[in-house]
Amino acid sequence: SASSPKKPFVPTQADYQKVYDAVAARLADDTDYDDGSYGPVLVRLAWHASGTYDKETGTGGSNGATMRFAPESDHGANAGLKTARDFLEPIKAQFPWITYSDLWTLAGACAIQELGGPTIPWRPGREDRDVAACTPDGRLPDAAKDQRHIRDIFSRMGFDDREMVALIGAHALGRCHTDRSGFDGPWNFSPTVFTNEFFRLLAEENWIQKKWNGPKQFTDKSTGTLMMLPTDMALMKDKGFKKHVERYAKDSDVFFKEFSDVFVKLLELGVPFKTEDRFVFKTSE
Ligand code: HEM
Repeated sequence: SASSPKKPFVPTQADYQKVYDAVAARLADDTDYDDGSYGPVLVRLAWHASGTYDKETGTGGSNGATMRFAPESDHGANAGLKTARDFLEPIKAQFPWITYSDLWTLAGACAIQELGGPTIPWRPGREDRDVAACTPDGRLPDAAKDQRHIRDIFSRMGFDDREMVALIGAHALGRCHTDRSGFDGPWNFSPTVFTNEFFRLLAEENWIQKKWNGPKQFTDKSTGTLMMLPTDMALMKDKGFKKHVERYAKDSDVFFKEFSDVFVKLLELGVPFKTEDRFVFKTSE
C-alpha cells in the first residue's frame, strides 16, 4: 500500500560480485601508479584495517573502518594508505549501500585474486563505526623489530607461528616507500604478481645490510636491488618460523592454500557476522 515503508535493499552475492568487478576494472584501468598496480596498497589497506584486532578486549579489526578518522589515519603505520582509501571512493559512490569496512576487505580479497593469488572467500556483515572506535597507536607491527615483537603483535590477534609466516608472505607484493615507512624498494622482481617468491628469495638469497642513511634494511648480494625488512629477516633467524619459510619456498600450492585460509581469518577478526556462508568471487578474465 501507499503507506508501507520502502523495503531496505538487501544485496546478494551478485551485487557483491558487481563491486568486485568494479574494483577489478579500476585496477586494470588505473595502471599509472608504482609498479603499475594499486593492488598491493589495497592489500595493505585491508591488512591494516584488520590487524588492529585485540582478542582480549574484542576491539579493533576490520569492523568499523575507523582508519577513515584521525587519529587512526595519522598513525605512522598507516602512512600512504590514503592512496588506497581514495582509490576506492568512486566505488563507494557507485555502490553506496556497501559499508567502508566491507568494501576495504572485499577490495583486499579482489586485489589478491586479480594479482594471481589464491581465491579469498569473503562474506559481508561489517558495519562502519565512528571516531570513538578508533584503536590506539602501536597495534600494528614495527618493521625494525625482531621475532619476539612479531609473536607479541600477531598472537594478540590470535595467530600461531605458521599463520604469522603465511601472512607475511604478502610481501611478495608491492614495495616500501621512503616517504611512508622510511624503508625503500620491492621484495622481488615482480611486485604485482602474487607468488611464493618472498619465501624463495628469503631462503635462497644472500642478504646483506644495505649501506645507506635510511633505517636498517637488507639487500640481496647478487643484484643489490631487492629488499628485506628486519622483521622479514627474523623469520629466518627463528626456528619456529624458519621451517614454514622453507615449506612455502618449496611449495607454492601449500603457500597459496595456507595464505588463503589465514587471510580470510584476518579479514574476519572481531566481526559479528550474521551469516556463515562465504562468497567465492569470479576473477576477471
Ligand atoms: C608494505 C611492514 C606484515 C602486506 C609494508 C611496508 C612495511 C611493512 C614497512 C612498507 C610500507 C611503505 O613504505 O609503503 C610490515 C611488518 C609486518 C608486515 C613489520 C609484520 C611483521 C604484512 C602482512 C601483510 C602485509 C601480514 C598482508 C597480509 C603488505 C603489502 C605491502 C606492505 C602488500 C606493500 C604496500 C605497497 O606496495 O604500497 N609492510 N608488514 N604486510 N605490506 Fe607489510
